Amino acid sequence: MKSKAILTLLSLGLFIYGFTGNDQPSKPSKEVIERGKKVFNHVCAPCHGKDGKGDGVVSSTIFVKPRNFTTGVFKFRSTESGNLPTDADLYESISLGFHNTAMPSFTALSPEDRYAVMEYIKTFSERFSNPNEYPLKVIEPANQIPLSPESIAKGREIYLRTKCWECHGVSGKGDGPAAKRGFQDDWGNKILIPDLTNPNEVKRAQTVEEIYLVFTTGLNGSPMPSFKDVLTDEERWHLANYIYALIHGIALYDGTTIEQLKETR
Ligand code: HEC
Ligand code: HEC
Repeated sequence: MKSKAILTLLSLGLFIYGFTGNDQPSKPSKEVIERGKKVFNHVCAPCHGKDGKGDGVVSSTIFVKPRNFTTGVFKFRSTESGNLPTDADLYESISLGFHNTAMPSFTALSPEDRYAVMEYIKTFSERFSNPNEYPLKVIEPANQIPLSPESIAKGREIYLRTKCWECHGVSGKGDGPAAKRGFQDDWGNKILIPDLTNPNEVKRAQTVEEIYLVFTTGLNGSPMPSFKDVLTDEERWHLANYIYALIHGIALYDGTTIEQLKETR
């Protein structure tokens, strides 16, 4: 009786935390896929389409288009540029949704349903069952540098030196010279560049760690590149602190606002 209870606890733990798909393709049971399909057709297909092509009935009415799952390309991940997302990444995207898009948070779905639909959307792309795609190169953020005026100031220098401003603008408002031409994603849809001084325009990058991940992993399928090989880990934490200060409207170290900085350049 006792061992059965422990077994149940273990499998529950494995179920909730044991995303196993980082080293090799996961092997969900038929029941999980069937359950995921039901959830998907009911809840996700109006946007993402029954075949996962991003062409559901709602898609023509919204500017930020729902993801086409058949190419296996995902923006928000914890993995290196070009890699598939981990199961945990997909589960998180389903749970959190994306600010400033039609994609809501699905915490109203049970964890079991979210897990099942996560496995189901992977079946739309062969990449997820191809062993050559694994192991995934997962980035584990470590040695975070605490937020401080000095770190924010260093981050601003890095922002200018690394030319984030070419797209995001010296002000961070998304008005850089490259943004004038407008941006497209890999699926041919027009996409907006966020105003990094407005937390409501940022899809995911709210915490310092989430910001760090965005420019470390790059957003696959969009023009937002990875800077993992361009900047050291330390530089990336300073930069993340600076972007955090921008997004959350924290005054800069010497009182210079981004607008004044813009005027002097
Ligand atoms: C009302 C429309 C809508 C519904 C319903 C919806 N989505 Fe989305 N979804 C979107 C949009 C729009 C995006 C694109 C976000 C972007 O490109 O930034 C998206 C993106 C995604 C992504 C990709 C994120 C990435 O990193 O590229 C995943 C995964 C996803 N949706 C899963 C789901 C699942 C699973 C469901 C059902 C439980 C669902 N969505 C329901 C609109 C929707
Ligand atoms: C070639 C143009 C380009 C460059 C250079 C660029 N970005 Fe981006 N960035 C984009 C675009 C386009 C998006 C919006 C992508 C989307 O929503 O699909 C974006 C989105 C972002 C986001 C918001 C992510 C979210 O959660 O919505 C952050 C933060 C960001 N970039 C930071 C940076 C930093 C820091 C640099 C410099 C190290 C940089 N970017 C360089 C084009 C660029």
